[in-house]
Amino acid sequence: MPDTGSGRPSLDVLVLDGRPVESARRVEPDPGEAELATLYAHPDPADGRQTWVRANMISTLDGAATGAGGVSGGINGDADYRVFRVLRALADVVLVGAGTVRAEGYTPLSVPDGLADLRAASGRAPAIELAIVTRSGDLPEQITDVGQHPAGTVPPIVLTTSAGAARLTGYPADRVVVTGEDSVDLQAALDALADRGLVRVLAEGGPSLLGDLADGDHLDELCLTTSPLVVGGPAPRIVTSGSYLGKGGAPARLVQILHSGGSLLARWSLRADPLPAHPASGSAHR
Ligand SMILES: NC(=O)c1ccc[n+]([C@@H]2O[C@H](COP(=O)([O-])OP(=O)(O)OC[C@H]3O[C@@H](n4cnc5c(N)ncnc54)[C@H](OP(=O)(O)O)[C@@H]3O)[C@@H](O)[C@H]2O)c1
Repeated sequence: MPDTGSGRPSLDVLVLDGRPVESARRVEPDPGEAELATLYAHPDPADGRQTWVRANMISTLDGAATGAGGVSGGINGDADYRVFRVLRALADVVLVGAGTVRAEGYTPLSVPDGLADLRAASGRAPAIELAIVTRSGDLPEQITDVGQHPAGTVPPIVLTTSAGAARLTGYPADRVVVTGEDSVDLQAALDALADRGLVRVLAEGGPSLLGDLADGDHLDELCLTTSPLVVGGPAPRIVTSGSYLGKGGAPARLVQILHSGGSLLARWSLRADPLPAHPASGSAHR
């Protein structure tokens, strides 16, 4: 059955290019998602960098990164999912920590339904790559057993340590990248992705990987959905790290806010240079 996009919510644009939108603007459901793709165009790497790393995360009002079930599926909704699909379609590679792969049951990725044309028009390769960061090499069978991979997908790239690689016997050797003895050197890992032409990186978490990416100043952008829930409990925040990050509290810059049904979908730049202005912003804002 063709994807009509009719079940997806419309999104109100509240802030664009860092400024409040004056006249009402709404991104209506659209199976091809052309307008949303323009709003979320994945930037090219900044000067002096090989990749643009955009993270996409969701948090509740009280800062929880998961619901009671221990996965983010308990706190997201249709608006978040609409943007999530487009961000995937616009990325060369989705980067994820092994904890999230294990908790959320990741498999090799397929292009979101109905977005293959958008992906082609954006200049991306037909297949979406998945890259998994793991110190231990302890990955579930749906990843390590290539025979179980869905048709049309490519085996994930595993970014790991020497010990991790030793555990992955039988996995295609050209899909295993060792960038450290005891821990994964994330800069070397990102460089290895760039060497394969994978420069638009979408980091989907989880909190430990995001903490390490932020700590190493590898994060360029954060797309953060705030879900209108208060869940309490012992859930992690979207970034966990052993100690406070040492960036001196430099503030992120607000790029964009969309809204639907109480969910706020924000885009933040973590770089000093402005993101390219949205081409269609025109006189829609002050
Ligand atoms: N709210 C959201 O947007 C969101 C997004 C994603 C996930 N989550 C939730 O977050 C939870 C998982 O949290 P998590 O912190 O365990 O997730 P994670 O960051 O995905 O996984 C941590 C694991 O990833 C590997 N890893 C991360 N950084 C590494 C580094 N620098 N070097 C080497 N390996 C590294 C290690 O794997 P090994 O143990 O294999 O060595 C580590 O144990 C789940 O409940 C998931 O549902 C929420």
